[in-house]
Amino acid sequence: MTTADRQLHLGVNMYNAGIHVSAWRKQEDPFSYLDVDFYRDIARIAERGTLDAVFLADIPGLREDARARPTLGLEPTVLLTGVAAATERIGLVATASTTFNDPYNIARRFSTLDHVSRGRAAWNAVTTYDPTVAPNFGLPELPEHHDRYGRAEEFVDVVRKLWDSWEDGALVGDQAGDLADPDRIHAVEHRGEHFSVRGPLPLPRSPQGRPVLVQAGGSEHGKRLAARTADAVFAAQTTFDEGRRFYAEMKQRARDFGRNPDALKILPGLCTVIAATEAEAKARKAELDELGGQQWAIGKLAANLGVPVDQLELDAPVPEHLLRGLDEKPGSRGFAKAVADYARADGLTVRELALLGGGGHRYAIGTPEQIADTIEHWFRNGAADGFNLMPDVLPSGLETFVDHVVPELRRRGLFRTEYTGTTLREHLGLSRPPSRYETETPHSSSAS
Ligand SMILES: Cc1cc2nc3c(=O)[nH]c(=O)nc-3n(C[C@H](O)[C@H](O)[C@H](O)COP(=O)(O)O)c2cc1C
Repeated sequence: MTTADRQLHLGVNMYNAGIHVSAWRKQEDPFSYLDVDFYRDIARIAERGTLDAVFLADIPGLREDARARPTLGLEPTVLLTGVAAATERIGLVATASTTFNDPYNIARRFSTLDHVSRGRAAWNAVTTYDPTVAPNFGLPELPEHHDRYGRAEEFVDVVRKLWDSWEDGALVGDQAGDLADPDRIHAVEHRGEHFSVRGPLPLPRSPQGRPVLVQAGGSEHGKRLAARTADAVFAAQTTFDEGRRFYAEMKQRARDFGRNPDALKILPGLCTVIAATEAEAKARKAELDELGGQQWAIGKLAANLGVPVDQLELDAPVPEHLLRGLDEKPGSRGFAKAVADYARADGLTVRELALLGGGGHRYAIGTPEQIADTIEHWFRNGAADGFNLMPDVLPSGLETFVDHVVPELRRRGLFRTEYTGTTLREHLGLSRPPSRYETETPHSSSAS
């Protein structure tokens, strides 16, 4: 694909009140994050800007300090079903854990969301890195990183088999005869190390064939899983050089699995603070910072790096020895690396990293043109196929993006002016996969 043909892809992370820890303090209603209409408004704004998708993260446990910011409490697929009913085109990406779920339930739940939304569902498959989750599921601690990914590999395979279990032609709808053709509905008969699943699903293949599969792990094992199975990667590169290196690596890994590299979209997170002038954008950020949350952010930074908080000195850089050996950490290796890259490249102190939300994603602070410049630079120079936006405050930060950055991106010929498809696969330029059973078991058509 030439650069001229490529179109940017943009999602927005509905991280409840906004990605800034103090976003909720700026809102008229501090409890808006519990109101389905809050998310519907955000999704409608995203749709007005012809964005590809809205995204919901998930941690099935109380991770946040409940005093500091809203929790990620609402279950994403349930919430997105409410959002689906209020929108028509925007893609709906929900996170769900492969460590604390069962493949049959997940396959059915996302197939349902795809049916309900008429082809707009995506599953962000995560292994869960937060240790507070394990005791909610009868485990004293998280399974080892390696074991979490061993289960994830098999989990994703089972889910994809289940999504294929009804061939596209299985529904006949002959009102004088049969509703469905049982020869085109397949048990998946999966027997593996972690799961034993007979199948099929109790419902026909969904509009996208398979809901879009997103992966967000940045470790060696996470990258392998994404390159083999994912349609998109939510990445966490915080520097352009690292973004470009990761992009090239993931496209090559996709090729090594015999895949078309264009069928794997790389979408780093980008935290945005936008205003008419650079000075106003910096002032907007400073005003949010002054509302507090610094202690929370330092805790998050320490957790991202997998080190005790008391080893971090506020006005000094993170000691180099704490930035090493991140590939052996038990939590999220992707986030740990993202923080370390940011700290090293920009020589940031602990305080500065904390003010960047603990360092998991890159911040872009400036005018609409400056934000568009960053996006264009990464997009045109092999570091991203698009971004998962994380506005400082929702919905105002997204509104500014849609009203001022989107027109600028369109003017530069980077972004669509209207939707050309109805499904998320179509927005992302991804083909609709055939059922594996369709190709493996040719049948005599009983539908005629
Ligand atoms: C943009 C982005 C969003 C993520 N969202 C979640 C999430 O909602 N829940 C979760 O448990 N992990 C989330 N993760 C973490 C990873 O998917 C993965 O489970 C974790 O980082 C451990 O994998 P790793 O060591 O391969 O990085 C996210 C990561 C990124 C980059």
